[in-house]
Amino acid sequence: MIERLQALRAAALRDLDSAATGKEIEDARVTYLGRKSEIASISKALGTLPDEERRALGKALNEFKADVTARLDAAKARVLERAAVVAGPDVTLPGRHPWVGRKHPITRTLERLEEILLGLGFEVAVGPEVEDEFHNFEALNIPADHPARDMWDTFYVDGGTLLRTHTSPVQIRVMQSTKPPIRIVAPGRVYRNENPDASHGSEFYQLEGLYVDRDVRFGELKGVLTRFLRELLGQDVTIRFRPGFFPFTEPSTEVDVRCRICGGGGCSVCKGTGWVELLGAGMVDPRVFRAVGYDPDAVSGYAFGLGVDRICMMLTGTDDIRLFMENDLRFLRKV
Ligand code: PHE
Repeated sequence: MIERLQALRAAALRDLDSAATGKEIEDARVTYLGRKSEIASISKALGTLPDEERRALGKALNEFKADVTARLDAAKARVLERAAVVAGPDVTLPGRHPWVGRKHPITRTLERLEEILLGLGFEVAVGPEVEDEFHNFEALNIPADHPARDMWDTFYVDGGTLLRTHTSPVQIRVMQSTKPPIRIVAPGRVYRNENPDASHGSEFYQLEGLYVDRDVRFGELKGVLTRFLRELLGQDVTIRFRPGFFPFTEPSTEVDVRCRICGGGGCSVCKGTGWVELLGAGMVDPRVFRAVGYDPDAVSGYAFGLGVDRICMMLTGTDDIRLFMENDLRFLRKV
């Protein structure tokens, strides 16, 4: 009898150790400890045995129950634990990064530009993106049918309404509504019907500057722009003033900085020249003053327009202007 118990015990422990589900454990329990189990009938027979045998068998039965019950509990715990692992989170997966939203690089650049220019005494002005020909062209000394209009490939909304091709119409609006002295900057989006490439977009940002007072000189313009560019890009920035042409300024200049993407060696952003054009500028043309009702003999001034996206490219080391409009999060999270 005792030997039979030992064999049963070995079988019970083996079955419990290999049980992989709750059902297999329960089956083993019924088989080895249940009411119809062999153990149950052995227990029943216990009373018929003589004293000594009964005591020995009783002890063996108790040990059997204790061992098998302990192994049963262990098997239950093991199966439960495995089920939790299967149903619960897979702790071996890489974690998910909680991304925090932040400002677009163009917005950050605009804020930086405004910060520097407010420090130089300018105030912020704004104007509409849908403009009329008068403010975008005529008042800026660009008459209809004049070849100078070819400088700006224009999206027309209808007839005389268009998407502004530059922020210069804000100059006109401010002068029409304010008497000199004027010292404003006008940031905003502009539109051009161009073939986009690494350094040209059909939508981009400009920041216009206008200063009108008595006896304003070209040297002041040069000084302010130099100081501004040094503060923005670092004291070691290399700046180049080239003679240029704009119908609304005379004389005019275009301002380049050494390309910071390639360090001047030549790349797609600077078109291999080592220089990037950031600004157009000049002394306000007398015809513009006349168009807004100012007396060109009494006031003078300078204006400048800078390409915000190009500056943003320099600041962030971005080599394609189109990335700023594509809203690709892989790019935006990096810059
Ligand atoms: N509006 C000119 C452009 O878009 C830039 C400019 C602004 C030039 C002001 C001179 C003065 O190209």
